[in-house]
This record gives sequence, C-alpha cells and structure tokens, in this order.
Amino acid sequence: MYNKNFIVVEGIDGSGKSTLCHFLVDLLNCIGIKKVLLVRDPGGNYFSEKIRNLVLSSKINYSNVSKKSILLMMYASRIQLIEKTIIPAINSGYYVVSDRFHLSTLAYQGYGWNVIDKKLIYILNENFVNFYPYLTIYLDISPLIAIKRLLSFRKLDFIESQGIGFLYRIVSFYRKYFRKRNNVIILNGNLDKKKVFLELKSKILSLFKKYK
Ligand SMILES: Nc1ncnc2c1ncn2[C@@H]1O[C@H](COP(=O)(O)OP(=O)(O)OP(=O)(O)O)[C@@H](O)[C@H]1O
Ligand SMILES: [Mg+2]
Repeated sequence: MYNKNFIVVEGIDGSGKSTLCHFLVDLLNCIGIKKVLLVRDPGGNYFSEKIRNLVLSSKINYSNVSKKSILLMMYASRIQLIEKTIIPAINSGYYVVSDRFHLSTLAYQGYGWNVIDKKLIYILNENFVNFYPYLTIYLDISPLIAIKRLLSFRKLDFIESQGIGFLYRIVSFYRKYFRKRNNVIILNGNLDKKKVFLELKSKILSLFKKYK
C-alpha cells in the first residue's frame, strides 16, 4: 500500500540524509504543510530505539551474531514504528518523513552483505510492513566522499565499518533500483549542502504544484 503522506530519504551512511530530512521538514512547513513528523528507521519510538541501540551497539561482537537475527531485529523495529507511530500519525493528518526505511534493509542486509536471500527480505516486507512511501528521496554519493565525511567527526558503527566494497554494492543496488522507478527524487549528494538543498527545493515545489 502506497501512502501519499509518507516520504522516505535513502542513501548510504554520511550521504547527508539526516541533514536533508531536517531541511525537508522546514520546507514542507514553509509550503503550508505544518503537521510533519520526522522519524528514523531503525528507531523512531521508544521500543524501536531500544532495538536500534542493540543492533548498532559498539559493545557487541557481531561476528558471533547471526545475520538473519539482525535482519529480523531491523524488521522488529520497523513493524513497531509503522504500527505504533507512522500509521497513527498519518491517520491524524500528519505527513511523515522517515530517515531510511525498507530499501535500506534490502540494500544493506540484502545486497551489501550478499549472504541472505533477497526474497526473504521481500517476504518479510510484504507480510509484516506492506507500507510504501509515495515519494523517496535518494542521496547519491561516492562511498569514498561519504566515509571521509563521517570519519572527520566520529567512529563508524558495526554496519558502517564493513569495508568500501560493502558500500559500493549498496550504492550499485540503489542506483539500479531507482533507475526503473518514477516516484523518486535523486539528488547529487557529492555537492555542497546549499546546492543539494536548492535542488530538492525546486523538485519538491514543482511536485507539490502538480498534485495540488
Ligand atoms: N552536502 C554536504 N556536503 C558536505 N557535508 C555535508 C553535506 N550534507 C551533510 N553534510 C555533513 O556530513 C555529516 C553527515 O551528514 P548526515 O548526518 O546528514 O548524514 P547521514 O546520511 O544521516 O549519515 P548516517 O547514515 O551516519 O546517519 C554531517 O556533519 C553533515 O553536516
Ligand atoms: Mg543520519
């Protein structure tokens, strides 16, 4: 089920998603959409944040954890987010912007790791979530630039520190996936923030004019 009040921002770590999400919320407010809820996935409410902390904890030795177990944790967090936060918010008139969603799981746990059957991820998604954004914004960036950005101010988490090949597989999945879709805005994340914001602004304004 596609929902017209649901927007997702996708891209690899350090591509500028969280920064862009805040800009998008301000932009929507400026064009008269005052009720906007920003969430992140995994996470986004009390229980889902607990799961996020467990999955991304620096205290756990992940070489001893089954990848399928991590996949299910991602879905446990997402199911809780959809049922208890996103759907109730949309039902009470909110737009919801989500920093990552299902495609991140397909990209990271599916194509990045490349050990779990992607069909399994589709099955989980269709049976437990089955909720799709009307619009996805994809920040396309070179993995080298993204990693450099992140390392300039923090350590990488367990999922991020799996090598550059891992990130290249993810980017190549995203690019292929979005090439065939039309409900997507693709932004050049290599550009400086101001340019990225301006590009988004002009695309969002023309999109919202079209559907008014
Ligand atoms: N276009 C840009 N050019 C340069 N720096 C940027 C740009 N966009 C964001 N940044 C900076 O890069 C850093 C990472 O950005 P941000 O946290 O938004 O990325 P992210 O995709 O949300 O990363 P993560 O996946 O780790 O959550 C921040 O310090 C942010 O200010
Ligand atoms: Mg972020």
